[in-house]
Amino acid sequence: MDRHWKDHSTSHPLPCSASIPERARGSGLVGFLLAFIVLPFLLLLAGCEDESEPVVNVYSHRHYDTDEALFQRFSELSGIRVRVVSASADELIARLEREGPASPADVLITVDAGRLHRAKERGLLQPIESQTLNAAVPAHLRDRDGYWFGLTQRIRILAYARDRVDPDSLTTYEELAEPEWEGRIVARTSENIYNVSHMASLVAALGPEAAEEWARGVVANFARSPQGNDTDQIRDVAAGVGDVALVNSYYVGRLLGSDDPEARELGRQVGIIFPNQEDRGAHVNVSGIGVTAHAPNREHAIALMEFLAGEEAQRAFAEANFEYPVRDGTSWAPELQAWGEFRSDTLELARLGELNNEAVQIFDRAGWR
Ligand SMILES: [Fe+2]
Repeated sequence: MDRHWKDHSTSHPLPCSASIPERARGSGLVGFLLAFIVLPFLLLLAGCEDESEPVVNVYSHRHYDTDEALFQRFSELSGIRVRVVSASADELIARLEREGPASPADVLITVDAGRLHRAKERGLLQPIESQTLNAAVPAHLRDRDGYWFGLTQRIRILAYARDRVDPDSLTTYEELAEPEWEGRIVARTSENIYNVSHMASLVAALGPEAAEEWARGVVANFARSPQGNDTDQIRDVAAGVGDVALVNSYYVGRLLGSDDPEARELGRQVGIIFPNQEDRGAHVNVSGIGVTAHAPNREHAIALMEFLAGEEAQRAFAEANFEYPVRDGTSWAPELQAWGEFRSDTLELARLGELNNEAVQIFDRAGWR
């Protein structure tokens, strides 16, 4: 993985090292003009790095246009430049371990609570005391010791073929293991962190034996071997490969809100079910953020986090990427409003990380590849 900083406030079209030419020095007015007016102006134009310029360095697994726009907005408001390295959470965690105290990273952003928990366990994050963050992020969606905070909620829903499934006949995740669904379920591989965290929530809710039995039942009902991303599952349901898919809510929202008529049509072919509304509620995961253990710009990191948990940013996450905001009272995208209110599981998300290994082993034993 190469180090590739993406800058969200300035570009660097010109080399940034510059000095006053020898001959001009001490030559009266010309020297004065060069040293104090022309050169600083040129450097400003070139967007050169000023050592004293406030900056915050972000390691992020998120790769959405919304985020770039939000970082830019944060820079406008705060004067703090945001530099981003994008890679998978596993790569970023390995990199933080390798870099140790010399790491330039100030915050780690992941698309899953389990990875944030892992970063905390490995000593890669530090605790933050912020009344603003504690007030904005409900307790079950953040680390109990302040090591990480959820920014957006993603709900694991069931996407079903409208023409082949009666939604009243499928109301829980547990039912997917029943013989009625034989040959009808499509899913991603068990390596996928969304599935691992969902399994962790099933272990927490049902106990390990029942969770493993569930996995065996679902494997027996697969329409094909696990493959593809969440959008591929929706596509396969629409194409008739299977009738029901386990996917994150925002993938369907994105299709429905797309500019592309074909994507919108695909989105309309599936209905969605928020499972387990009569008991624990639908499984929730978060995309979240934590300050790194050796953050060189700790205060700027906290300012960025508080901005991302604030009203404006929360609305942007919800409207542009169809994720559910963590902050109470934030408006939802119309596509999400149309799905209505639902009950979501209030399991403390740190449990998803704590049960991660057990979840992986259960998938293995159940033959969910
Ligand atoms: Fe995703």
